[in-house]
Amino acid sequence: MTIDGPEQLEKLKIIGAICRDILAAMGAAVRPGITPRELDEMGGKMLEEAGARSAPMLAYEFPGFTCISVGDAVAHGIPGDIPLIEGDLINIDVSAEKDGVFADTGASFPIGKISPRLQKLLDTTKAAQRKAMFAARAGQRVNVVGKTVQKEAYKHGFQIIEGLNGHGVGGWIHEEPTVPNTYNPSDRTVLHEGQVLTIEPFLTTGSRHYVEDEDGWTLRLSEGGHGAQFEHTFVVTNGVPIVVTE
Ligand code: CO
Ligand code: CO
Repeated sequence: MTIDGPEQLEKLKIIGAICRDILAAMGAAVRPGITPRELDEMGGKMLEEAGARSAPMLAYEFPGFTCISVGDAVAHGIPGDIPLIEGDLINIDVSAEKDGVFADTGASFPIGKISPRLQKLLDTTKAAQRKAMFAARAGQRVNVVGKTVQKEAYKHGFQIIEGLNGHGVGGWIHEEPTVPNTYNPSDRTVLHEGQVLTIEPFLTTGSRHYVEDEDGWTLRLSEGGHGAQFEHTFVVTNGVPIVVTE
């Protein structure tokens, strides 16, 4: 959506802060032995207390309040009962609605101690998200995002998953435009002031493709390895972005 005034911006900030707080609380609870379902129940309780509704449940009848993806699963994982194992990564994606306005945020977290290479993957993905978000000013093409993410990923020898993209958000969970994480020089879509977007790069240690699990939801790296994602919802301006989920 495009912000139509201060009242709507306030609503976006409120739901953005709710998603931020839930993601932070769930992330802080990540440790070896806890199950994704336990983390998700924590998120569900916080959503209820905040008077907000899970966007994946509302929009897609997703079987969880939040998406939790572990190991070679990179997105849309169903929170299940397998305890987390030390040394792996977990991705938590929280998106929700309140007063008709949606926000979407996500992050990957280490489970206990992880290898320096996986730590580098986390740091690089987070940096790519941030740099792309600050490059996404009004008047720029949307492909400035892919250009920025690619530069950051390739510099450190990581790959980018094709087909998982940022997106418009606000009036619904997924809106136009698509915000690709790879550079398409012929994409002439231009960003405009007040536009509400997410940027969510998915970087990996090798795979560029994913496959859908038999559960009909979980997206897994087709060649294995590890992936990481960081996501924020923000308002496009002529200068620095208004980030509502941090
Ligand atoms: Co998300
Ligand atoms: Co998203």
